[in-house]
Amino acid sequence: MMLSDHRVQNSQLRGRLMSAEAAAALIPSGANVGMSGFTGAGYPKAVPQALAARIERAADAGEPFRIGLWTGASTAPELDGALARVHGVQMRLPYQSDPTSRKQINAGEMEYTDIHLSHVAQYVWFGFLGKLDVAVIEVAGVLPDGRLIPSTSVGNNKTWLDQADKIILEVNSLQSLGLAGMHDIYYGTELPPRRVPIPLTRVSDRIGEPYLHCDLSKVIAVVETRQPDRNSVYAEPDANSRAIAAHLIEFFQQEIKLGRLTSDLLPLQSGVGNVANAVLAGLNEGPFEHLTAYTEVLQDGMLAMLQSGKLARASATALSLSPAAAELFEREIDFFSERIVLRPQEISNHPEVIRRLGLIAMNSMIEADIYGNVNSTHVMGSSIMNGIGGSGDFARNAYMSIFMTPSTAKGGAISCIVPMVSHVDHTEHDVQIIVTEQGLADLRGLSPKERARVVIERCAHPDYRPALLDYFERARQGGGGQHTPHLLDEALAWHSRYLREGRMLP
Ligand code: COA
Repeated sequence: MMLSDHRVQNSQLRGRLMSAEAAAALIPSGANVGMSGFTGAGYPKAVPQALAARIERAADAGEPFRIGLWTGASTAPELDGALARVHGVQMRLPYQSDPTSRKQINAGEMEYTDIHLSHVAQYVWFGFLGKLDVAVIEVAGVLPDGRLIPSTSVGNNKTWLDQADKIILEVNSLQSLGLAGMHDIYYGTELPPRRVPIPLTRVSDRIGEPYLHCDLSKVIAVVETRQPDRNSVYAEPDANSRAIAAHLIEFFQQEIKLGRLTSDLLPLQSGVGNVANAVLAGLNEGPFEHLTAYTEVLQDGMLAMLQSGKLARASATALSLSPAAAELFEREIDFFSERIVLRPQEISNHPEVIRRLGLIAMNSMIEADIYGNVNSTHVMGSSIMNGIGGSGDFARNAYMSIFMTPSTAKGGAISCIVPMVSHVDHTEHDVQIIVTEQGLADLRGLSPKERARVVIERCAHPDYRPALLDYFERARQGGGGQHTPHLLDEALAWHSRYLREGRMLP
């Protein structure tokens, strides 16, 4: 038996130890299952795969078996991938990035409800999403009184444990016990009208408890695992990302000169990916000091900044680290523990806290239009890429809301600056700054027509600038409304041409 008394210190729960297969057999078809996991961290590694095998056997026997799958955010091939491969997911929420799931969602074979990440927990408390039947939660360990040591993400785990009828725990002995104490689980949330302010006024404030509560009578299985998180791939920033980072850093310096920021900036929120890492690398080398982060996910760039001392404190709901950074995190866990707080996602992404702290929100996007509306989720209007994630939570409520993208995609066949976005996630009212490798457009205080000129001149790729200007000028003369001029027959013609001919320009 691999599981030591050291990891599961509660004797009642030691009595529920079983294999992943036996635990998966306790999940009925049609159940809504809330699993842990956020950007490839802290997701259950064994039960989802055992459940997928069970679903496959049921399908072979002609018995359809599907579940509703709720998580914190994206997970990993062992969870989303395994269940999608056997067509085991009827409904998925709130965010995913798995290629097989994406294919099934876009083929109409899997339902997908894309929800602001800060809304998920309260939607469940309100009863908007129906009954949660089973929670499957990875933890690093269990204390003698049954409280749980969370692992590398918190996500919606508190809510799943509270709301589910039954609980399955995966105790992963590869997750460091040094994680104990890094988390801050806030139990002060209430339903309206009994809500009170969330007492968090600084990035590093601890307003809750280090452990998750768990009603032991609901625990139907405890499964031992010893597997690493998925780990993200760290790619060295490419030229476009470095150029975007340079524009942003110059902009921050300008804001400092104008007295609108100080050299410690304001708490940073940073999406994940190549561009975000480049921005963090730029900030790490830039003239800023005593930075803080109030963000959703901590990736390699943030660890590097904590190590260098540029970043003093960071708050998030999950880690998303490359194998090398995960090793560093594990090795230096005491150092990071003093500087990192991991919170439930309804707190890491809470509009009230984001507005109070005054964040600088930096997120990637698929496309923006000349008026500043942003599409983060859909390709050519209809196909989902990943989901809105926390971008809406941050963009709407931040002190400064920044969206970034290379100016073109697919080898230049697509312009990421278009006459009209094919799907809107963030309206012109929530978008203040757009950055591409070409330049930065500061849209604050500008009217739509002023915005259009700045976006085209500063952000569009030179190959697309004349066509965008031509569209804008003809729209202005087109006889329609002059506030936000559009040619409705043409506004989405670039997208439909791409679908027909594989390129946006004639
Ligand atoms: N039209 C069509 N496809 C586009 C496109 C556009 N305008 N812009 C980018 N793409 C494609 C890229 O070609 C690439 O495709 P590939 O996977 O086939 O190579 C893919 O979208 C990803 O683009 P990439 O440039 O590599 O950026 P990314 O990995 O940083 O992802 C988003 C960009 C927008 C998809 C991603 O940031 C996302 O899902 N955001 C929404 C959630 C979010 O903001 N979370 C953070 C908040 S905390």
